[in-house]
Amino acid sequence: MKTRITELFGIEHPIVQGGMHFVGLAELASAVSNAGGLGIITGLTQRTPEDLAKEIARCHEMTDKPFGVNLTFLPSFTAPPYPEYIQAIIEGGVRIVETAGRSPEAYMPAMKEAGIKVIHKCTSVRHSLKAEAIGCDAVSVDGFECGGHPGEDDIPNMILLPRAAEELKIPFVASGGIGNAQQLVAALALGADGINMGTRFIATKEAPVHDNVKQAIVQATELDTRLIMRPLRNTERVLANAAVNKIVEIEKEKGQDLEIGDIMDLVGGVYPKVMQEGTMDAGAWSCGMVAGLIHDIPTCQELIDRLVGGAEEIINQRLAKFA
Ligand SMILES: Cc1cc2nc3c(=O)[nH]c(=O)nc-3n(C[C@H](O)[C@H](O)[C@H](O)COP(=O)(O)O)c2cc1C
Repeated sequence: MKTRITELFGIEHPIVQGGMHFVGLAELASAVSNAGGLGIITGLTQRTPEDLAKEIARCHEMTDKPFGVNLTFLPSFTAPPYPEYIQAIIEGGVRIVETAGRSPEAYMPAMKEAGIKVIHKCTSVRHSLKAEAIGCDAVSVDGFECGGHPGEDDIPNMILLPRAAEELKIPFVASGGIGNAQQLVAALALGADGINMGTRFIATKEAPVHDNVKQAIVQATELDTRLIMRPLRNTERVLANAAVNKIVEIEKEKGQDLEIGDIMDLVGGVYPKVMQEGTMDAGAWSCGMVAGLIHDIPTCQELIDRLVGGAEEIINQRLAKFA
């Protein structure tokens, strides 16, 4: 399947695996890229730029196809050394970066000079236009359904994607809530040049996370995510569990006076415990509503083949009948 996104990144299918903390390691990124999509290593899961360099080298050993690195700009007091992370990406021979969290404007000159293609993930049309204006090559438009941080506008993809299509000149992928072939076709119909998936890629054989995490996603329905940290304007969609129920209770009690310290032990340092040890109630972890559409744990190749093959069948058969 050829689109502006496959051309831009030199990949076979317009399917991107979004950066995911403690999930986007070389095993998953290489499996997605080997299956014809674009795999992405999560930069900040690597504790230092040196560690990221090693992870990139490991990924090169597992695939000779293009892959990317995610750089998430976090709201934190002690910012990670982003210029050094970018240096590790450049020296590691990676030429695709997915940015997220905040505008990558400050780092665009360094990345552009090195010939890096930048796809910025954001949750609104205005942020997408800003990304276009500062020279990003593509945008990942992340709707309200998404796992992780949907922003504060609460616009679902049925509206957000066609709005993005009205305004953007650069290509964009639809992100958030996507997991099957019908949705890939819908994303293309709404104006996107491909899709970005997070939660769906966690429930794959190659995702290097504890089996409990995969089983939790397969068992969850579309009703099982919760939004937390709204009063902090750092809203996150997570899978409901005992810790999340506690957070929701604390948030109800504190209202707009909520401070991060009130819930810190339930949101900080949780990922290794959940993803590596499989302690599912250790705290809050991102998960999308698409969990309701995830019923199995295929390989990345099976998943991507199913999406692309299914999409072609829908376009050629079901949709062709209506034309
Ligand atoms: C467990 C998990 C961790 C994530 N971590 C990050 C991250 O570190 N940086 C980032 O930019 N996006 C992160 N995301 C968001 C994904 O890259 C992607 O945009 C999102 O999952 C898309 O929505 P979906 O889950 O409905 O497919 C994460 C998502 C999940 C589910």
